[in-house]
Amino acid sequence: MSSSKDKTVSLRTARVKRAKASVPSVPKPGFPATRARRNRRSPWSRRLVRETSLSVDDLIWPIFLIEGAGMRAPIASMPGVERLSIDLAVEAALEAAALGLPAIALFPYTDVSLRDEEASEALNPANLVCRAVRAIKAEVPDLGIVCDVALDPYTSHGHDGLLIDGEIDNDRSVEVLVAQALAQAEAGCDILAPSDMMDGRVGAIRTALEVHGFSHTQILAYAAKYASAFYAPFRDAVGSGAMLRGDKLSYQMDPANGAEALREVALDIAEGADMVMVKPGLAYLDIVWRVKEAFQMPTFAYQTSGEYAMIAAAAERGWIDRDRVVLESLVAFKRAGADAIFTYFARDAARLLGAKA
Ligand code: PBG
Repeated sequence: MSSSKDKTVSLRTARVKRAKASVPSVPKPGFPATRARRNRRSPWSRRLVRETSLSVDDLIWPIFLIEGAGMRAPIASMPGVERLSIDLAVEAALEAAALGLPAIALFPYTDVSLRDEEASEALNPANLVCRAVRAIKAEVPDLGIVCDVALDPYTSHGHDGLLIDGEIDNDRSVEVLVAQALAQAEAGCDILAPSDMMDGRVGAIRTALEVHGFSHTQILAYAAKYASAFYAPFRDAVGSGAMLRGDKLSYQMDPANGAEALREVALDIAEGADMVMVKPGLAYLDIVWRVKEAFQMPTFAYQTSGEYAMIAAAAERGWIDRDRVVLESLVAFKRAGADAIFTYFARDAARLLGAKA
């Protein structure tokens, strides 16, 4: 049956077969050529392929202040966090510096007798927060200090601005906020962090700082700050929760909005913000991502008091592993694009990171 023609064909086929055998065939895409688990198999390999890392350099530790000496006052809704008198806040600052934390943030519990409709204590150059800044700067000059610019620890109605005829008066509030910011800058605060969400306050504060010789003072704008129920334990800590008349919905943002956050951030950058912040944290990581992508500015996020409380409470009950959840939640901020994170776990995280190194 075989003709010479058939023979030629079969020889050619054999040559092609031999060639195929000598070149390894390209695997088909997908499994098993691709096994995603290969890179995860050993600790050294996981370290090599890790995309983000959390470091002590990323953390800012918020500290609550009270009057007195040698005073520590626990906060019921924030187990493990205490308000500290200035002498103990100085000790905490020394500890922060020793742990390598770049900065702390100070929040005062103002004596109720000093709170009024105008927030006049906010302007007192010898108020609790200004005295604390001076004391800490004297002992720990290289530790960054962040101060909130907002009136809520000082007003008898618990609002961040002035309440006039039952409404927040934006422009009069900004005048007071500017004076508060100057008092804090004068005391030696490094970073002013307006958290009030009034319109135009960043520009007004920047102008005043330049005019008064504080051109080095940085502004961290709480640019996209939402009207959040996650702030409740903080309001216990500074004593503004029980005093709050109404809500903050006319100035803090609607949690349903994302594009508006980008507009808020754009405004604050245009007004002179050096850094911008998104707040709260974990529930708003999409906003952190969008802000970082859109503006490429130093972008901070705040793991709020309510987030702290949830983790601390669940850990107290043995429902979650506190240390692991703390590190996991903080690295999530980094993955979303945050450059730094305000967290009440800063000291714990710094210790954990130090122990790991
Ligand atoms: C005050 C201020 C708040 C927080 C930081 N600065 C509370 C609020 O706006 O009501 C929240 C911090 C936290 O919950 O940890 N303007």
